Amino acid sequence: MYDFIKTLQFRHACKLFDDKRNISKEEFETILEAARLSPSSFGLEPWHLLVVENAKLRELIRSACWDQPQITTASEVVVLLSRKAEFFKKDSEYLNEAFGRKAKEEKMLGAVKSAFDNFITNDLATDAQNWAKMQTYIAGANLMNAAASIGIDTCPIEGFNAAKLTKILTENVSVFDALSYNIAFVLTFGYRVSEPREKIRWPLEKIVTFVK
Ligand SMILES: Cc1cc2nc3c(=O)[nH]c(=O)nc-3n(C[C@H](O)[C@H](O)[C@H](O)COP(=O)(O)O)c2cc1C
Repeated sequence: MYDFIKTLQFRHACKLFDDKRNISKEEFETILEAARLSPSSFGLEPWHLLVVENAKLRELIRSACWDQPQITTASEVVVLLSRKAEFFKKDSEYLNEAFGRKAKEEKMLGAVKSAFDNFITNDLATDAQNWAKMQTYIAGANLMNAAASIGIDTCPIEGFNAAKLTKILTENVSVFDALSYNIAFVLTFGYRVSEPREKIRWPLEKIVTFVK
C-alpha cells in the first residue's frame, strides 16, 4: 500500500488525547511548515494560525467548543483564522504586498491584480470571505496529514459557537480582530489514548464518476 494512504488511514478524529505526552518542538514546527507550503487560490495564503499555548485560554476555548475534551488534553491547539473581505479589496495593502512578492515588473503586478479583482467580483460563486475560509481548510488538511505522517493525532473542531469563540479571542488575543478575521476551525494535536473505530466511507463508485 502507498505510504500516503497508510497516513490517511492512521489519521482519525481523535476524541481524547494523552495529556501526559507532548509533541516535540521540532515535530510541531515541521507540521506548521506543511500549512505554510499549502497551495492557495492566486497564491494569496489568506490564513493566519493562532497557536494557543496558554492553559487558561484553552479552558475558555473549550467552553465555546461544546466543552470538547480534545482542547484541554491536546499537546497543541491551533485556531485557524481566515482573512476577511477587506484584505481582498482592489489595491488593498495586503494584495499589493502578496502580489508584489512575486511580480517581477509593475506591468505584471497590474495584470495579476486586475485578473484577481475580476475573479473575486465577477467569477466567484461565493463571497470573498467564504473563499478565504475555503483556502484555509486546505492548509488545515495539510496540517492533519503532516501530523499523521509522523504518528501524531489530530482532531479538527468545527463544533463551536462562533459568536462565543469570537468574543473569547477578541478579549484574550491581541492580534485577533473580528473585523479582519473569521474563525475557520480549531485544530488539536496530540497522541491518542485509544484506537479509533473502523473508517466508514462511501465506496469510490458513489463519489466518483468517470466522464468519457
Ligand atoms: C472541518 C471539520 C470539523 C469537525 N469538527 C469536529 C468536532 O467539532 N468534533 C469532533 O469530535 N469531530 C469533528 N470532526 C471530525 C469528523 O466528525 C470526522 O472527521 C468524520 O466523522 C470522519 O471520521 P474520521 O476523521 O475519524 O475518519 C470534524 C471534521 C472536520 C473535517
